[in-house]
Amino acid sequence: MTEVIRVEAQRPSPAEIARAAECLRGGGLVAFPTETVYGLGVHALDRAAVLRLFEAKGRPAHDPLIVHIGSLAQLPSLVVEVPESAKTLAARFWPGPLTLVLGRSAAVPREVTAGLDTVAVRIPSHPVARALLEAAGLPIAAPSANLFSRPSPTRAEHVAADLNGRIDMIIDGGPTEVGVESTVLDLTTTPARVLRPGAVGVEELRELLPDVQVHAPTPELSTGDAALPSPGLLSKHYAPRAPLTLYHGSPAVLVEGARQALSRGLRVGVLATSEDAAALRDVPVTIAQLGPSRDLRGIAARLYAALRELDDQRVDVILTRDLPEDEGLGRAIRDRLRRAAVRSLPGA
Ligand code: TXA
Ligand code: MG
Repeated sequence: MTEVIRVEAQRPSPAEIARAAECLRGGGLVAFPTETVYGLGVHALDRAAVLRLFEAKGRPAHDPLIVHIGSLAQLPSLVVEVPESAKTLAARFWPGPLTLVLGRSAAVPREVTAGLDTVAVRIPSHPVARALLEAAGLPIAAPSANLFSRPSPTRAEHVAADLNGRIDMIIDGGPTEVGVESTVLDLTTTPARVLRPGAVGVEELRELLPDVQVHAPTPELSTGDAALPSPGLLSKHYAPRAPLTLYHGSPAVLVEGARQALSRGLRVGVLATSEDAAALRDVPVTIAQLGPSRDLRGIAARLYAALRELDDQRVDVILTRDLPEDEGLGRAIRDRLRRAAVRSLPGA
């Protein structure tokens, strides 16, 4: 049985938070909102609990977890050294959606870091996450609270849809604000490298660390009009159940793709900006709205919920169109679209 606790996002009830903190201290699995997406938290120094977390999510053991802390004072015990760059970045971006990869101290179980000598750490800014970290008085290891490879949860309902019955508690603090995950920055290499583009833009990082590189391997996507693969065979990230095709080019390219899929008798879902939705006015597709293409914050906030909406509507295929914007949040959104997609089709 998974218990759902409702709290106010800005002023969570201390009594409810205390119960969740108690559950964590006892080795329980507690999902909670952060400013980016919901996390599935566990006592980071409790090996057995960490193993249960991997099991609940169906996450492969080789994928390391982010350790969430409530204050900078907790950092030195988790890492071998706090470099100057980490202090500078923490002063500017913490609490907030930046994850720093540093040398792991012996205090952090290998189960958390998937055997790596490094550990990923962040201080989240969401009031519920902060209250929970303070009440628990522990570092909390927390991956996104979805089943492995599914879109990250931005609402408590998404967590329940994936993990109900598999975890102890869900703290429902309403929808998350940012909608895409934290930026992961590796400070153990020179120059520092962005391993996952996210809520903090690379340009913002470069204001403090000018030589930051981006090393976010984009998965290979097939091009061409091959038959759609079975979604069951995919080991993609952030992916809806229906196979997603990413189009490049004008809305007309998307409209043509939608007509072709319809002519094959498929139920077609489209993850659509307002511009795309307007172009598809007369085409009988199921639309999940992302809002205007210029509003990157709005798109990020709606992205994962929109993918889940289309799955709930039981569409056979999902089509979407790439964004032109490669700065700031645009980079993170495009990265997630690529990882969710099974194929990518060039524009006409
Ligand atoms: O916004 C977020 O980061 C959310 C919230 C809950 O904090 N968490 C999240 O966790 O997205 P997860 O587990 O879904 O993604 C963590 C990412 C993975 O890509 C993982 O490979 C990477 O961080 N990571 C964790 N530890 C690492 C390490 N030591 N070295 C390199 N990458 C690491
Ligand atoms: Mg995740």
